[in-house]
Amino acid sequence: MSEALLSVSDLSIGIDGKSIVSEVSFSIQRQQTLGVVGESGSGKSMTSLALIGLLPRGSTVTGSIRFKGEEIANAPQKQMRTIRGKRIAMIFQEPMSSLNPVLTVGHQLEETLLTHEQLSKKSARAQSIDAIKAVGIEAEKYGAYPHECSGGMQQRIMIAMALLCSPDVLIADEPTTALDATTSKSIIKLLGTLMKERGMSMLFISHDINSVAMIADDLFVMWNGKIVESGETQRVLTTPSHKYTKGLLACKPALDKKLRRLPTLEESMGA
Ligand SMILES: Nc1ncnc2c1ncn2[C@@H]1O[C@H](COP(=O)(O)OP(=O)(O)O)[C@@H](O)[C@H]1O
Ligand SMILES: [Mg+2]
Repeated sequence: MSEALLSVSDLSIGIDGKSIVSEVSFSIQRQQTLGVVGESGSGKSMTSLALIGLLPRGSTVTGSIRFKGEEIANAPQKQMRTIRGKRIAMIFQEPMSSLNPVLTVGHQLEETLLTHEQLSKKSARAQSIDAIKAVGIEAEKYGAYPHECSGGMQQRIMIAMALLCSPDVLIADEPTTALDATTSKSIIKLLGTLMKERGMSMLFISHDINSVAMIADDLFVMWNGKIVESGETQRVLTTPSHKYTKGLLACKPALDKKLRRLPTLEESMGA
């Protein structure tokens, strides 16, 4: 098997001397969507922030994080700046916290591109317009301000921005948690389509196992800073081995025991 795109082994994170994440190991292959599920406070976000070198001050990291063969655990910020955003991009739960309220959507996309790539203003504009169209937003919204866009649209803009520089991996940390169920499904479906079209890899994080099940090829379950279960999504859902996973599944009526076969992404989203 070829080397994983991103490979994490025995990652432990402490903040101000308190253990937050313990000996977490996983790897992301090319074109794979890996899901992370676990209740609030289980260490999902801290694990993902470690991958892009954005842990809070006072954090300590041990273990290894290899990205395309390069060790990036505890890498200097200078090295991380060449990776973050450009090779490993991230979207978060609250798009408004990442969007600048006083700049138009189009302006922010162009700025993002111009920060990372040597481009003329004209081609930055052309690429930015293509990017919003690719996430299902009409070109007319290009000159809109973030507050003039719905929550779902704001998250689509974040996805467009994250994908502008054609990263290898997208980390999506609770990208649909702030959205209503219908919008959430459409965003998950969009992410699935984009990853497939572009041959990208994704780390998809959610406290909601159903959201993860819709999109992840494989997943791992975090509890109290540790991975308590991991495997192929379908296997974990049908035959969970850890009692915590069983508990997560027990509160989900959609995952009826009688279900012989899990619905595909398309079916579960009624497409
Ligand atoms: N800035 C911070 N300083 C200290 N502890 C933090 C900070 N942010 C999160 N934590 C702690 O780290 C643990 C894991 O948090 P987090 O990774 O955000 O969980 P999740 O994303 O799974 O909800 C929690 O116990 C939380 O209290
Ligand atoms: Mg989180």
